[in-house]
Amino acid sequence: MPELENQPLPADAVGLLEGLTTTRTIRRYRAEKIPDEALRAMLFAATRAPSGSNRQPFRFVVLTDGPNARTAKKLIGDAARRAWEGKRRADGYDTGSGQLETSPKHRMARAMQQYVDEFERAPALVLPCLVRHRDPTPGEGASIYPACQNLLLAARALGYGGAFAMWNLAVDAELRALLGVPDGTFIAGAITVGRPAGRHGPVRRRPMAELVYGETWGEAPDWAADPPGTAFTSAGPPQRPR
Ligand SMILES: Cc1cc2nc3c(=O)[nH]c(=O)nc-3n(C[C@H](O)[C@H](O)[C@H](O)COP(=O)(O)O)c2cc1C
Repeated sequence: MPELENQPLPADAVGLLEGLTTTRTIRRYRAEKIPDEALRAMLFAATRAPSGSNRQPFRFVVLTDGPNARTAKKLIGDAARRAWEGKRRADGYDTGSGQLETSPKHRMARAMQQYVDEFERAPALVLPCLVRHRDPTPGEGASIYPACQNLLLAARALGYGGAFAMWNLAVDAELRALLGVPDGTFIAGAITVGRPAGRHGPVRRRPMAELVYGETWGEAPDWAADPPGTAFTSAGPPQRPR
């Protein structure tokens, strides 16, 4: 293992704008250990994130293949399977277009089922944590979630991929006890990372003009025009009339 201390970061595989518009959630991974060099670059990027007053309240527990990693993956994996089973039923993933194998709904359900079934196989599980300096406030997430996105973007830059979830909340007490997370520190999510089994590609969202307004709420400025070839999705709850 080369001394990482004196090594520069690895070169990016993609440019910044391309990377951040093609960082899809990756839920299937190859059975490949992530080298320390790559973990180091991802976590370096995560720890360079902005935070209120540059207080840097983020901490990251990086779990790969140690005994605590195995237990934490199983705890969150079990929680994920329980949560997905309920959501699959409640949101009707197996009814309507969900019965059609080619429908986006069916594909989403299949990807989620496989993700939760194989959760423990994710090469790395990162628990982003927020060390609170006061009682919880509505804005506190703004000092931890940019760091999570930095991590996912850095993974993308190096040819890795990841998925962010909050299934950790269901097993918060067990995780704290296992890992020694102190009181006053919030485990803010659970991010799996690995070499993608599939491919990255442009993310799909609603057209910019539905999401970006100018002088008046609901009215898009002329420049809010998507680049040619942009693919869209209206997945998610219906938008309220504007
Ligand atoms: C707050 C938040 C919670 C999420 N929770 C989950 C989750 O529980 N399980 C999961 O597989 N993905 C989860 N995701 C990933 C989203 O499903 C994903 O980002 C979204 O569907 C858009 O897909 P894309 O990232 O591939 O473009 C979450 C993302 C965010 C930001």
